[in-house]
Amino acid sequence: HTEIKRICCIGAGYVGGPTCSVIALKCPHIIVTIVDLNPARIAAWNSEDFALPIYEPGLEDVVRQTRGRNLFFSTEVDKAVQEADLIFVSVNTPTKTSGVGAGYAADLNYVESATRHIAQVATSSKIVVEKSTVPCRTASSMRTILESNSRPGCHFDILSNPEFLAEGTAIADLYNPDRVLIGALDTPEGAAACAALSSVYANWVPKERILNVGLWSSELSKLAANALLAQRISSINALSAICETTGADVREVAHAVGLDSRIGSKFLRASVGFGGSCFQKDILNLVYLSESLHLPEVAKYWRSVVDMNEWQKLRFAKTVVDNLFGTITNKRIAVLGFAFKADTGDTRESPAITLVKSFVAERAKVAVYDPQVSHDQIWMDMQSACSTPKQELSKQLTLHTDAQSTFAGASAIVVVTEWAEFASPNFDWEGAFAAMTKPAFVFDGRGIVNGARLREIGFKVVTIGRGENL
Ligand code: NAD
Ligand code: UDX
Repeated sequence: HTEIKRICCIGAGYVGGPTCSVIALKCPHIIVTIVDLNPARIAAWNSEDFALPIYEPGLEDVVRQTRGRNLFFSTEVDKAVQEADLIFVSVNTPTKTSGVGAGYAADLNYVESATRHIAQVATSSKIVVEKSTVPCRTASSMRTILESNSRPGCHFDILSNPEFLAEGTAIADLYNPDRVLIGALDTPEGAAACAALSSVYANWVPKERILNVGLWSSELSKLAANALLAQRISSINALSAICETTGADVREVAHAVGLDSRIGSKFLRASVGFGGSCFQKDILNLVYLSESLHLPEVAKYWRSVVDMNEWQKLRFAKTVVDNLFGTITNKRIAVLGFAFKADTGDTRESPAITLVKSFVAERAKVAVYDPQVSHDQIWMDMQSACSTPKQELSKQLTLHTDAQSTFAGASAIVVVTEWAEFASPNFDWEGAFAAMTKPAFVFDGRGIVNGARLREIGFKVVTIGRGENL
């Protein structure tokens, strides 16, 4: 098979950036160039003070070791494509907002234009790897586009190699993946391309964890993995509602059922709802696929995972209002955390957006603090969620650079993201209590605060999935 000497990655985002930085680290003999159309993003990757465009624990260290050695970030897409033996397509595939399949189907415009661009500029044969999460059959569309537009003498092999990293643990996940999945055509060329990509991963991933399957299976496995993970969260969240009304404790229930080795203990943390750029998008994608295949029952089944998640978010917002005597108008609500999970600055589909929007709709004064998310990002998210300009929104919404300053005169603290800071024994809950109006409430959407200690201070505490509330 071809020996891979140069890799190009199209898309310098949450997936392309960390994935290809780790490849560069683990394969010093391969030159890796990550390209993007967005010059600001590339400039951030190249910034002298390593102010990288995404926050991911351990990432800066990897980039410090590799950048300028065998890792390069560039906006010169054509050059990087021409020089590469293998190209990862790692562009965004958001849910379509208009046209056929709006609200469900993946927008494949970025994948298609990157693919067309490869065909247009490539002057030699390439292995093209679909890294983005895409609906089934996309690899075959990419192949058709490449074959119909290639220059004479240029041959393209297409592979599917979905990414399973989770944000916040991306580097650890990439160092030590449960598996690397490579989908290929069942042809000698497909097998050779698959062997070439496998040999890149084999620099640090044990061979038995590199799995070769068909293209379709590979594409569907990615959607299936995210659907099954999200389904576990919706299942435990559905149980959390039962716990709250019966006096059971969802942590105890999750622990008890998780000890059954057939169920397993991971991914059973009840929460204010799952967020992130993947789960909802990929399930809706699966729903759309099922509908297209005339399988309405299957579509409805997966749709319910997303419906349960929406309900959980709104249920939590309603719990806040109900406990605050039915109204939060003009009351200050301190929101701790805005990212969709801890250890990331990413806010895509964050449950915080839904919560803050509903507090704003109730005419509350909302004070938000997150240790990583930039204020610009929060303004952008909330302006678009509320369809209200910043100037208007700022009458109700204030953003803070520390937790304590959100508490002055607040009626309630709402914990939305499970940042270690909020769970730390050093967190100044006494100070918070002193600054707030009474009764002072804490609504814990992540089950991370020490309820007993907070009640001793005088707080009324409401935790997702716990009957012993208040
Ligand atoms: P992202 O938006 O962070 O990054 C995508 C980048 O691609 C953007 O910077 C954009 O400017 C660039 N781009 C788009 N079209 C381009 C083109 N034609 N040429 C050059 N650059 C182009 O997205 P992401 O979170 O990295 O996700 C990428 C893909 O990976 C998606 O399909 C997603 O579903 C999948 N995925 C994401 C995660 C995750 O945790 N974020 C995990 C697994 C898989
Ligand atoms: C997910 C998949 O885990 C990953 O394999 C895939 O490649 C991309 O999508 P990510 O969205 O980055 O990763 O984070 P993840 O850890 O899966 O969390 C997603 C959401 O679920 C977060 O909002 C998180 O807080 C929530 N969650 C997770 C729970 O509410 N309970 C849990 O038990 C686990």
